[in-house]
Amino acid sequence: MQRTFPADFLWGVATSAHQVEGDNNNSDLWLEEQLPGSPFVEPSGDALDHWNRYAADIELLATLGLKSYRFSIEWARVEPAHGQWSQAALDHYRDVCDQCIRHGMEPVITLHHFTSPQWLMRFGGWRGAETPDLFACYVERVMGHLGDRVRYAVTMNECNIAAVLHDYVQQLIAKGDKVAIERLSNNRWKSLAAKHCGVDESLYCSFIGAVDAKGVETVMAAHRAARTVIRRVAPHVKVGFSLSLQQAQSRAGGEKFALDAWQRKFRQWLPLIADDDFVSTQTYTRTIYDIGGKYHVPAGSGTTQMKFEFAPEALAAVLRTIASETDKPILVSENGAAVDDDQLRIEFIGRALAGVHQCVAEGIKVLGYFYWSAFDNFEWYFGYAMQFGVIAVDRRTMERKPKGSAIYLGNIARTGVLPDEAQVQAQPDGGQELLDLLNSERG
Ligand code: BGC
Repeated sequence: MQRTFPADFLWGVATSAHQVEGDNNNSDLWLEEQLPGSPFVEPSGDALDHWNRYAADIELLATLGLKSYRFSIEWARVEPAHGQWSQAALDHYRDVCDQCIRHGMEPVITLHHFTSPQWLMRFGGWRGAETPDLFACYVERVMGHLGDRVRYAVTMNECNIAAVLHDYVQQLIAKGDKVAIERLSNNRWKSLAAKHCGVDESLYCSFIGAVDAKGVETVMAAHRAARTVIRRVAPHVKVGFSLSLQQAQSRAGGEKFALDAWQRKFRQWLPLIADDDFVSTQTYTRTIYDIGGKYHVPAGSGTTQMKFEFAPEALAAVLRTIASETDKPILVSENGAAVDDDQLRIEFIGRALAGVHQCVAEGIKVLGYFYWSAFDNFEWYFGYAMQFGVIAVDRRTMERKPKGSAIYLGNIARTGVLPDEAQVQAQPDGGQELLDLLNSERG
């Protein structure tokens, strides 16, 4: 039987400003890239020059058959100095929306994707008491300028990223990965970054570094303030924020680690989600906990360039777990694999979507699917070596080359139908699903 998706399903690819635009030199992470001892293996530099090439890039996405483009607005460009607004940047982003609309694509905007203006550190960054209001002020400018062009806004990308990153570094420490430990857990660059911003090191706190309770509280307050502004300035816009959520399983003794991770990465955000229009997940892999709290890739599973387990079925497991906690519609705002062999990416997309289709058939409300990413791009700490994109970019000439996976995803988007060979596969055993644990907890 033909597997068809709902007609209004959002089919797209995603990017973020810092990873593709280039020269985002007023932002905090740009600064961190330049410093001795930087956790970034290389600087973002020109990135993909998407700032200048966005019109041709969007046309290419539309030609491939894609129906939607998720991109982010850069706060450090819109407000390069505190209280100074760049009309040119606001006009730029409005035109990005217009280019999408002109090509029949739905623009989905993210108002914050990891990077913040350097001046925010004078206010204590993402631990600062005034930060939620400063963020809301920026959101008001943006939505006042392009709110009439969009129907969906993600206020902040992966509000739980600091916890995810913290766990990731713990995982590397447990594995004894000396190079990564030295690069990711040294703080030498931090005092230099603070000095450059003209503040004491205690005030320097980027979004991805906001791991403590104060950081979480600030991010939550910023989302609330942004949502209030959006509801006032552009009431037709559906609002949510995204979370990084991996499928979790546990082996005997690991149950408490799986439950604790879910509490920190999802449950503590539920009261915020309760007043949103949708919940947004970004899912890449599966995590298996055991008695030592360790993370495993089971024998028989491959890994991606990120050293994540190649686990396309993880997405459906996450969708089912979220749906057991809330009735809100779910947006898959990112899902993807960094692999050299594009056939593997095609397999990943097909298997992930076969799982999504089962979830839709079970009655779970899924708004859409955004593959990460449109292009091979600047993968933060890992630089340009990671190949997530359905489109390759030659960074010397900036030439774009769509891969087979771009054609594959574009055809699914165009028809709304899943090819027959896209089938869910049995996962190598990891143990008990988080959903079973939650269900037994609920009695
Ligand atoms: C982020 C992206 C990132 C991707 C792949 C997500 O955490 O939103 O910016 O490139 O994962 O690691």
